[in-house]
Amino acid sequence: FGEQPLRGRTVVVSAGPTYEDIDPVRFIGNRSSGRMGFAVAAAARDAGADVTLIAGPVSLPTPPGIRRVDVRSARQMHDAVLAAAEHADIYVGAAAVGDYRPDVEAAHKLKKADGAPLRIELIENPDIIATLSTRPSRPFLVGFAAETRELAGYAQDKLRRKRIDMIAANEVGEGKGFEVANNALHLYWPDGDATLPEMPKTELARRLVACIAERFLSGTGR
Ligand code: PMT
Repeated sequence: FGEQPLRGRTVVVSAGPTYEDIDPVRFIGNRSSGRMGFAVAAAARDAGADVTLIAGPVSLPTPPGIRRVDVRSARQMHDAVLAAAEHADIYVGAAAVGDYRPDVEAAHKLKKADGAPLRIELIENPDIIATLSTRPSRPFLVGFAAETRELAGYAQDKLRRKRIDMIAANEVGEGKGFEVANNALHLYWPDGDATLPEMPKTELARRLVACIAERFLSGTGR
């Protein structure tokens, strides 16, 4: 970033999975390693922004020059993102937030019950980015869409339903999207789209941040 397009701007990025506890030793999680979100945070910093990274449980070092807040559950991530994004210019939701959590978290380790099935009732978690989009002074909102099929359709549907400004769609599955070092993205915004082909997540994040900066600065007149 020669001229640092996000200098003086505040960016909040979420990254990694959330863990929804079942009992003191078990949880429901997902495969996100945090690599994509951490790369976006570093790229936003290099673009001149003041960056806060809200991280789920991951084992990655904090990129230098970035404020990091660690959380575990979707509800904790919700609260941390909303607090950090209050006065932010841009929010990038790269975290794989658990859509559901167990209705009750058992106080003690669940025991086997002589072959009877174990039933866990799941209830929906709050949608962080959709909540942010209802705020009067909301930041420019960039979501991710992780899909195993019908990438374009589901991604564009999320862009509309969550009323956000841009969505970065990636295919996930065996060796794709999650965990691995490379990724590819298709970006959609209300009146356009762009393809970022497969490359290392660090480079992809820089290309993504350049597109975000362009849309943010042109569209909003901010
Ligand atoms: O971490 P890596 O191993 O590098 O993998 C990267 C990634 C595949 C996790 C990443 O690129 C990615 O796609 N992140 C979003 C994964 C996801 O949960 O997508 P989704 O389609 O379920 O959610 C859509 C959007 O809504 C996301 O921006 C998500 O952060 C947001 N969301 C979802 C649920 C919820 N309760 N609140 C939210 O804000």
